[in-house]
Amino acid sequence: MICAATLSDLYVLELAEPRPHGGVRREAAPARPAPELEPPPAPAPSPLLQIRGVTLEYRTPQRVVRATHRIDLDIHAGDRFVLLGPSGCGKSTLLKAAAGFITPVEGAITLAGAPVRAPGPDRIVVFQEFDQLPPWKTVAQNVAFPLRAAKALGRREPQERARHYIDKVGLTPFADSYPHQLSGGMKQRVAIARALAMQPRVLMMDEPFAALDALTRRRMQEELLALWDEARFTLLFVTHSIEKALVVGNRVALLSPHPGRVRAEFNSHAFDLTSIGSEAFQGAVQRLHTRLFEADAPAEANR
Ligand SMILES: Nc1ncnc2c1ncn2[C@@H]1O[C@H](COP(=O)(O)OP(=O)(O)O)[C@@H](O)[C@H]1O
Ligand SMILES: [Mg+2]
Repeated sequence: MICAATLSDLYVLELAEPRPHGGVRREAAPARPAPELEPPPAPAPSPLLQIRGVTLEYRTPQRVVRATHRIDLDIHAGDRFVLLGPSGCGKSTLLKAAAGFITPVEGAITLAGAPVRAPGPDRIVVFQEFDQLPPWKTVAQNVAFPLRAAKALGRREPQERARHYIDKVGLTPFADSYPHQLSGGMKQRVAIARALAMQPRVLMMDEPFAALDALTRRRMQEELLALWDEARFTLLFVTHSIEKALVVGNRVALLSPHPGRVRAEFNSHAFDLTSIGSEAFQGAVQRLHTRLFEADAPAEANR
């Protein structure tokens, strides 16, 4: 089902619900303040990654390019949160800002309440390009290297953890191979293993399968969802593909064209790879397609 119920909507619904009074007649004395009839509602869980009013710009000698405009997003622990939007709407820029590579000109990004000011091992990005791996290191060395560099583990642990995640992505027979001996899909698996081995608080992926052939892409999506099922990490995933957004995500934020604004948010947890082709899936694709390509409403354009 596609619906845009937010936590605040649920909160309002909760408050609007009639509550039983337990049959006790309360005669409040006029002089005293009204007694508390209800315990306060439970606070909404605080998001792991919070993006508030975030505007991002590039300054070139000639001009300023505004990539995103006042983005608000809440990503909760365990979410598979997708940023969906047309090319050039600022998805990669927003991801880089969440990773700490770019500082907002307006607004703030926090991770577990702490401001994001620089890149850190708690936020690892997997990019689309196949050349993310130093070619002079084997698969095992590539995965273990950032673990060693972080210096948080003992002498043997990086290697053991690397082997574990290499196994998770099915590359054990290739642990001693070099990147040039691997296919594009295999290189992306190494990049994913390397990222997961760091056990980041948020795993970020920027169109990670876009350069792969259709069959490999589908298999990689399946594998990613299986890995998520096992480890329940928090995923922030960028794509311009509606189908991919619905399959990979449980929440989808739809961004408007350049500069990116949040146009809508949808739940998409009902869909997975088996839903493709179903009537409900096609209907959802159609609705997202319409929202993606409709013109900004004037009120939205002024936000
Ligand atoms: N390094 C850069 N310098 C100047 N402008 C840039 C730079 N990188 C991206 N942009 C511009 O910022 C906007 C958003 O880019 P990007 O975040 O890459 O979009 P997306 O990932 O959604 O395709 C685009 O208009 C793009 O041309
Ligand atoms: Mg991009």
